[in-house]
Amino acid sequence: MNGSGYRVVVLPGDGVGPEVVHAGCRVLDALAEGDVAPWRLEEHAGGAEYYRDHGRDWEPETEAAAHQADAILLGAVGWPGVTKPNGDLAGGSLVLGLRRDLDLFANVRPCRLYPGVVHRISGRHGQVWSPENVDMVLVRENTEGLYTPARGRLDRGEQTEVAVDTRLITRKGAERVVRFAFELARGRNSGAPEDHVRRLTCVDKSNVLEGCRFFRETFDRVGAEYPEVARDYAYVDAFAQWLVRNPEHYNVVVTTNMMGDIVTDLAAVLQGGMGFAAGANIGREHAMFEPVHGSAPKHAGKNEANPFATLQAIEMLLRWLGARKQDGRLIRQADRLSHAVTDTLKGGKARTYDQGGTATTTDAAERVIETIRAEPA
Ligand code: IPM
Ligand code: MN
Repeated sequence: MNGSGYRVVVLPGDGVGPEVVHAGCRVLDALAEGDVAPWRLEEHAGGAEYYRDHGRDWEPETEAAAHQADAILLGAVGWPGVTKPNGDLAGGSLVLGLRRDLDLFANVRPCRLYPGVVHRISGRHGQVWSPENVDMVLVRENTEGLYTPARGRLDRGEQTEVAVDTRLITRKGAERVVRFAFELARGRNSGAPEDHVRRLTCVDKSNVLEGCRFFRETFDRVGAEYPEVARDYAYVDAFAQWLVRNPEHYNVVVTTNMMGDIVTDLAAVLQGGMGFAAGANIGREHAMFEPVHGSAPKHAGKNEANPFATLQAIEMLLRWLGARKQDGRLIRQADRLSHAVTDTLKGGKARTYDQGGTATTTDAAERVIETIRAEPA
């Protein structure tokens, strides 16, 4: 399809989700000022709080809209004390459900420290990591591994005797995410900050786990097709320390589902915290974009959450959709957003509480909007 009006389904979800997503939508509106927006934002309710109030994650029409969307923007899902009778995450259809049902196999989480952003690691030789040391992308397998819905309990009498989760690594699942990561690594001309090498690191536990051995074999088999990419390996436990000690070594990292879940939160510390961590869930036909921080109940309703993760998620959405539809307008808008975010952060003009500042969510978004308006389209 060419032309205007790509359908972007917006799922604000729970907690701070609506606050950061609505800030993001205002920024999208600002990008479109003076022109016909090439997108239509279509907001739908759903999530854990929706489940609490209505007994279901979302309406069937919402699910259908998400399936038919050109792209999805998700806020956050989850609320304390609200779970399904079997213990599953209430509102889980919006996140785990869409990842599985739309086959969004690659969870792409950039980890980059923007100039002007502060973080809480003191760094080597007492020096604070500088932005040029942190610029990597972590790719997490998103449809199988320990998240495979093959789990359960064996209850005997009144008590549970056994609980089991099955970690599945399939040929198809490993191959496609590894290939995705090699393509990404090949395309990142800047390479790793340390040496500009277009490196791809396979993070696993192949010294113990069979699934990880298979994942690493797949990595090597697929990697043989990418001689331009330097293959690199790390056991996940060692990776946890190297990531923090030597972030400049990493360009692109690929790993399995649960390990990726854990190490991307760790990596977020390097980029200034979860307030800057954005994720893209990418499949062949669909994609969903989200801030990674979750619903943050403690901060909900206070207009204080950091909206920059959502703004980066929106930038990724525009780039993905622009590439998919071969529509340069979206790429240009992604570039404008990226410049405005970078400029705003560099000036320290929009520091929310997590950055030691006093800007509210709406203040921070306003600063970005002012920067967009000040720079010619
Ligand atoms: C994430 C989140 C989700 C996950 C939760 C909300 C199910 O932690 O996107 O990293 O575990 O994948
Ligand atoms: Mn997580």
